[in-house]
Amino acid sequence: SAAEKGGWSSFMAKEISEQPEAVANTIRGRVVDEQVVLPELEGLDEVLTDIDRIIIIACGTASYSGLVGKYAIEKWARVPVEVELSHEFRYRDPVLSERTLVVSISQSGETMDTLMAVKYAIANGARTLSICNTQGATIARESDAVVYTHAGPEVAVASTKAFVAQITALYLFGLHLARLRGTVEQGRAAELVAELRAVPDKIAKVLESADEIDQLARWMSDSRAVLFLGRHVGYPIALEGALKLKELAYIHAEGFAAGELKHGPIALIEPGQPVFVVVPSPRDPGSLHSKVVSNIQEIRARGARVLAVAEEGDVAVLPFADEVIRIPLAAPLFEPLLTVVPLQLFAMSLATAKGLDVDQPRNLAKSVTVE
Ligand code: G6P
Repeated sequence: SAAEKGGWSSFMAKEISEQPEAVANTIRGRVVDEQVVLPELEGLDEVLTDIDRIIIIACGTASYSGLVGKYAIEKWARVPVEVELSHEFRYRDPVLSERTLVVSISQSGETMDTLMAVKYAIANGARTLSICNTQGATIARESDAVVYTHAGPEVAVASTKAFVAQITALYLFGLHLARLRGTVEQGRAAELVAELRAVPDKIAKVLESADEIDQLARWMSDSRAVLFLGRHVGYPIALEGALKLKELAYIHAEGFAAGELKHGPIALIEPGQPVFVVVPSPRDPGSLHSKVVSNIQEIRARGARVLAVAEEGDVAVLPFADEVIRIPLAAPLFEPLLTVVPLQLFAMSLATAKGLDVDQPRNLAKSVTVE
């Protein structure tokens, strides 16, 4: 009903707007003396110090949060992390031991493929942790431990606020693990915590560009195909941006790692082809920014219509981008919580412009409880 939507045109619009709180609520109660402490993992210190490998399993949007988590957890905790779709993991005879931690991510906690993968992991001797948004869900109950995301109930079929909460939970888990394993120095950990706590206000800032993105989406509502490029943590966001557009607007969309461009995707570029590019921060020490700017030049030279999602003050993209959507400065690893927002808004606006039901896209279910 209209009342349940709190004045918003759809649950999705409402849930996108709730993302600052989803992140803030997921952090709340989990920082002690500027260090991350997850009380629900109390008693697991020995297990978490001893694991030699993490496998993240999930489906759909949740799997892309896992890909973002991989970058952060490996960087901070120095434990190898693999990310695998639940339905692939379970049927390939994966190598597991009691030193393997299988982390499942699920908004509903009821996705059948993920549940069966968790049961498989348990039966094969692995330890299990669930990242879940639904209190008491089956996957949470089956697992050794659960870190709840506190995004609140998500009604729209396409996941938005649960996604940013999942990424936040993975950052917290990475910092918790790093503290236990002594891989991030305390002062640095405190800086990271402060940066993470600053994210909700920055998401609110990105939400202010909703009208501008809405206009852009309306202009582009007859697009046949849209490509998304990203690098490092921008890569999973490119995948998520493409998924949102498929789910909501029924437009063919693909996300690519920008470094793969010359290995195939560049053949798709023809005059007028819209390409979203998630641009890494120019402050990133890895000089990925200049590499992505070169990619933008390459596709622009072939006629692509470039829509750049770039940090405020990044002027290097200006000469080559048709549109620039700005995000506030943030620590590079935390940027996904900001860069995903314009892509969600874009997909929602484009679907709305096409007269589609953004809360209930055709053929999809909120929770897939069959294999
Ligand atoms: C369905 C939903 C997606 C969601 C996926 C995983 O496909 O439409 O939005 O990402 O399931 O759901 P889960 O509840 O396990 O996160």
